Amino acid sequence: MHRSDAIDPYHPNDPIMTQLPPAELRRRFPGNFVWGVATSAFQIEGAARADGKGPSIWDEFCRIPGAIADGSNGDVACDHYHRLESDLDLIAELGVTAYRFSVSWPRVQPSGSGPVNEPGLAFYERLVDGLLARNIQPYLTLYHWDLPAELQRGSGGWAARDTAYRFADYAGIVARRLGDRVVSFATHNEPWVSAVLGYERGVFAPGIKDRRIAYQASHHLLLSHGLGMQAVRATGTKADVGIVLNMSPVRPATESDVDVHHARLEDGRLIRWYTDPLFKGSYPQDIIEYLGADAPQVQQADARIIAQPCDFVGINYYHPTVSSGSNPASPASSGAAVTDMGWEVAPRGLFELLMRLRRDYQLPPIFITENGAAYRDQWVNGRIEDEQRRQYIESHIVAVAEAIEHGIDVRGYFVWSLMDNFEWAEGYGKRFGIVHVDYATLQRTLKRSALWYKALLRADAS
Ligand code: FCB
Repeated sequence: MHRSDAIDPYHPNDPIMTQLPPAELRRRFPGNFVWGVATSAFQIEGAARADGKGPSIWDEFCRIPGAIADGSNGDVACDHYHRLESDLDLIAELGVTAYRFSVSWPRVQPSGSGPVNEPGLAFYERLVDGLLARNIQPYLTLYHWDLPAELQRGSGGWAARDTAYRFADYAGIVARRLGDRVVSFATHNEPWVSAVLGYERGVFAPGIKDRRIAYQASHHLLLSHGLGMQAVRATGTKADVGIVLNMSPVRPATESDVDVHHARLEDGRLIRWYTDPLFKGSYPQDIIEYLGADAPQVQQADARIIAQPCDFVGINYYHPTVSSGSNPASPASSGAAVTDMGWEVAPRGLFELLMRLRRDYQLPPIFITENGAAYRDQWVNGRIEDEQRRQYIESHIVAVAEAIEHGIDVRGYFVWSLMDNFEWAEGYGKRFGIVHVDYATLQRTLKRSALWYKALLRADAS
């Protein structure tokens, strides 16, 4: 196997490396802990019309003037679709044991239903086989927001109950083909984002602003999770099946009754609206009451479908949420250190969140399926010295170690992201990668954080 053609501008004996004590941190984790990096299809693949791929709601959303901060789109992105082999080498070079990626539904089923687009499915087969050949475990996400556009046009996307059944068909197609090799299937990535940012706030595809439709969509997303799990399991795969949720501990800005009330509501909308039906079997009553006429229509059998036991739950954590009467969901408390997204850097928040989940739920094993930070590039003599990102990642890994030491069953950690990519409504301006992408040449360059992560993974775990 050849080395990836990414630039590694660091010298092995670079004195800065000696500041890093990876072995000590690594020793706090069990030997079988899963270490990975994560991406998603729309954010890196490009090749928007290649080999029979159909358009997704994100392809269409990007064409709305003003929808994306820099007016960009996913047509080329990181061109991962055409650079698969060298990107696989790049992933292997980091020394990770797992890679989390998503499958583009419209690549596999261009209109969201009906016949399979064989070249699209074959791409993911090459990806999975390429990972296994490099001893890297494939963690597959079925839906990371790129709904086939035709399902949106025809029936209103996730607003329609039928979309949940279409998703289950698609999940079965992917699992029949790859279920013998993939170790983990996540049905959805962050259904809160799909529903709330896509259908209530309208800042993500499909750009709808209607609370009633958004909550109906959230119910269909959860229903599709249950139906999708059934479809995946029906293939006889031995892979784990679960879901990935975005989570954030919600704190009141002050102890005032108003702020405490808003924090409780935001916690309900963001966390309990998903974790209660998934892990307790019903929607939280206070949020049903708060929604009033906007509460979703639910059929009798739905609750049991949604609450089928998951093999794992993935948690994506970036920042805490601060709630007050004037701003029920701020991503930072005033004066806090923030990333380039304006998100508070609070590793303690991850620890708090995990402890709270243990108090309130009986969860299956946990994976931190995303964690990372956007910062502006700091080039020093041809290198990217992203010490802030490195520290962000290190401090959050320490928080995971503390959670494990408190008896919480966390099995893995994935850095978001392998490389800089299309950050949704922000376009290419926000960089989350531990590998830099030059969008003019598409050259990949390891940042300091990637070198540090690599050193951590190489450190002896015993
Ligand atoms: C998460 C998304 C991921 C990425 C990070 C920064 O909400 O799952 O695709 O955009 O945020």
